[in-house]
Amino acid sequence: MSEFAAVDVIRAKRDGAVLSDAQIDWVVDAYTRGVVADEQMSALAMAILLRGMTPAEIARWTAAMIASGERLDLSSVTRPTADKHSTGGVGDKITLPLTPLVAACGAAVPQLSGRGLGHTGGTLDKLESIPGWRASISNDEFKRQLQDVGAVICAAGDGLAPADRKLYALRDVTGTVEAIPLIASSIMSKKIAEGTGALVLDVKVGSGAFMKDLATARELASTMVRLGQDSGVNTIALLTDMNTPLGLAVGNALEVTESVEVLAGGGPADVVELTLALAREMLAAAGIEADPAKVLESGAAMDTWRAMIRAQGGDPDATLPVARETEVLRAEADGIVGAVDAYGIGVAAWRLGAGRARKEDPVSFGAGVLLKVKPGDAVRAGDVLLELRADDPARIPAARATAAEAVVIGSTQPSSTNLVLDRIA
Ligand code: URA
Repeated sequence: MSEFAAVDVIRAKRDGAVLSDAQIDWVVDAYTRGVVADEQMSALAMAILLRGMTPAEIARWTAAMIASGERLDLSSVTRPTADKHSTGGVGDKITLPLTPLVAACGAAVPQLSGRGLGHTGGTLDKLESIPGWRASISNDEFKRQLQDVGAVICAAGDGLAPADRKLYALRDVTGTVEAIPLIASSIMSKKIAEGTGALVLDVKVGSGAFMKDLATARELASTMVRLGQDSGVNTIALLTDMNTPLGLAVGNALEVTESVEVLAGGGPADVVELTLALAREMLAAAGIEADPAKVLESGAAMDTWRAMIRAQGGDPDATLPVARETEVLRAEADGIVGAVDAYGIGVAAWRLGAGRARKEDPVSFGAGVLLKVKPGDAVRAGDVLLELRADDPARIPAARATAAEAVVIGSTQPSSTNLVLDRIA
């Protein structure tokens, strides 16, 4: 591989040049090996954020990140594989009911997930609230479970796209997370390396999401769809609303409980709607004809959930952790709920202990927010709007202030918005 000086690559991007394949291969590899220093990669990431990248540069950058580690070979799995990735939202527990549902419809679902940082929760944190459940499994266990149960949700091993692991941590502290080429290559390098045949992206749009507006979310979605399709992964994206939290529960164990309600045939309408919409897309992308609504109703998805939790040491019948303190927030006047702001509720849940400020922090499994109202609901003065749960009472006052601001009560019905805003294929 040819050698470059990092400073020349930085200068080239700073001045708006298109990086060559050789420059990209070198800089990603050299950074992973520690030859390019963090401060140099920080400068390059900022230049990429400000100058952008061409589709060819993004494709090459993604390929270089994949090449930094191993690529899983799922050819031993006999069912078609289909995965889903969400760009992250508040109350977004959809992976939990969706993975066993799609598996119960005949697909194999390899879900490599992460932990939460900031106001959005992580799937692994939610599942770790189930006593005994293990997030880390070996590649062999992963493939065996995928074949036998059809559903695995686990931590991505260290071997998968190590360049991304290092770069993501750096972007997090250098104000460069928001660059579309870097987000798209980060997500897609892991998904392509994971070996799935089909992929459905749930790109969140709104106050509680990374992408605050539809135009930016569309650009991110089409960049990722193109990367997937060009790598032989049948990829489509749904753009979905994240101005309001999904469902009524925000917080780790609270979200597991709500997911189990969905698997049992109940649960909030929006969680059921999005689970079914994503399931239909995953099944179509994997070439499987099945009606997920019927499979959900049959109880087969619940059976797969139980098998999936047990396979990783968890007890699906165990009592989940409950936070020690509960405080309610009540309406001060009669009116109609105009908004329950996803970002505000996400921050409140995080302040209550459901999320972490630094990646090594523990989370409180029982902490979080239960919504008692959604936009459009009529309320009377004194009605409960939110329930706040925390283990540490000292966390409640700051969370309470944020949560109170998140619920807007007015006198008119808010305009209704669709949950699924667009589809990009
Ligand atoms: N999630 C990722 O995995 N990478 C990003 O860059 C942003 C969100």
